[in-house]
Amino acid sequence: MNPGITKDPEFIPQMEPSIGDEERKAVADYMAAPGWLTEFRNTAQFEQAVAQYCNCEHAIAVNSGTVALLMAALALDLGPGDEVIVPNFTMIATPNSVKLPGATPVLVDVEPDTLCLDIEKAKAAITSRTKAIFLVAINGRYPAAGIEAFVDLCRERGIALVEDAAQALGSRYPDGFHMGTKASMGCLSFSSPKIITTGQGGMLLTNDARLADKLRRLKDFGRSGGGNDLHPTIGYNFKFTGLQACIGLAQLEKLAARVLRKKAIWQRYRSGLAGISGIKLFDMDIVNCVPWFIDVLADRRDELQEYLRQHNIGTRLMYPPINAQQCYRVAGSFPVSETAGRRGLWLPSASQLSDAEVDRVCTTIRRFCHEQQ
Ligand SMILES: Cc1ncc(COP(=O)(O)O)c(C=O)c1O
Repeated sequence: MNPGITKDPEFIPQMEPSIGDEERKAVADYMAAPGWLTEFRNTAQFEQAVAQYCNCEHAIAVNSGTVALLMAALALDLGPGDEVIVPNFTMIATPNSVKLPGATPVLVDVEPDTLCLDIEKAKAAITSRTKAIFLVAINGRYPAAGIEAFVDLCRERGIALVEDAAQALGSRYPDGFHMGTKASMGCLSFSSPKIITTGQGGMLLTNDARLADKLRRLKDFGRSGGGNDLHPTIGYNFKFTGLQACIGLAQLEKLAARVLRKKAIWQRYRSGLAGISGIKLFDMDIVNCVPWFIDVLADRRDELQEYLRQHNIGTRLMYPPINAQQCYRVAGSFPVSETAGRRGLWLPSASQLSDAEVDRVCTTIRRFCHEQQ
């Protein structure tokens, strides 16, 4: 919370970042020392810490998750005439990052239980122009077909796989691999609603040294070396800052506890919402995956949102299907993402939610559903 902003103690926000004295002290210490503010040693330290947590060889900090996805597209040399398969239920950054270098996102529907890309529909959408699949670990989930099925499919068809793991820090596949580390590149986000935040920020993960080198040049004007002005390749400025790295390092210390808390919150919602007709909580592999947001399908979703608002409870409508967004307007049938867009609601999901707050949300939903019967 910014000083000066007063908060209604009764209001439960859908999401709120949690910044403590540790982050404040880290920034103050950093500001007290001489430095350039831009990325330097502590950004490298943050990258190493994330690489270690994800058990990945290279982690490259950039200024947002969107930029991480865009850089993946640039590193794959995607451009006009190329097609990239993207789920129709995702945050708009996934297709947009493909569009910026001129490639065409091909929208494919998702699975009803996980809301991850449907592999059969993805296979049917592959053409001779398909260059990549951008697979989204939506809400920290993996597709029912399994990540290996996507890795194999892409290998067989000679196309690249990128994992959009923006919502999946802390989530692992059943074999223990962190999400974002199975594909040629994975992308994380540290925007404000994420499990840990640097305000804005993102990270590319890769185990490919050649790609890591290409990505490092891309984010630093294509320089041949640190600080020089020789540019063998085209690059841009997608760098991080030391200030963000201070916050990120302090937030990382809290990640393990937040992973446990998010799982406990989801389990409490599961019990609290059990047996309420008209509400369906999406299932999770709660052993391996971390629910970023608590996602439900609600029969009278918009009325429920208003009822919760009147009872001081914040929620957020789940993403409309990408094909229906004004900036895309793609015709076709996408029944699963259409249902998620029409009935999907994100309930309060911050890791600092108390058990009593979760119970209050569940009781209020129960009351709404009973009153409507
Ligand atoms: C699935 C997904 N991809 C990409 C992004 C973009 O990340 P950022 O907001 O850091 O640009 C987000 C952000 O929420 C996301 O949820």
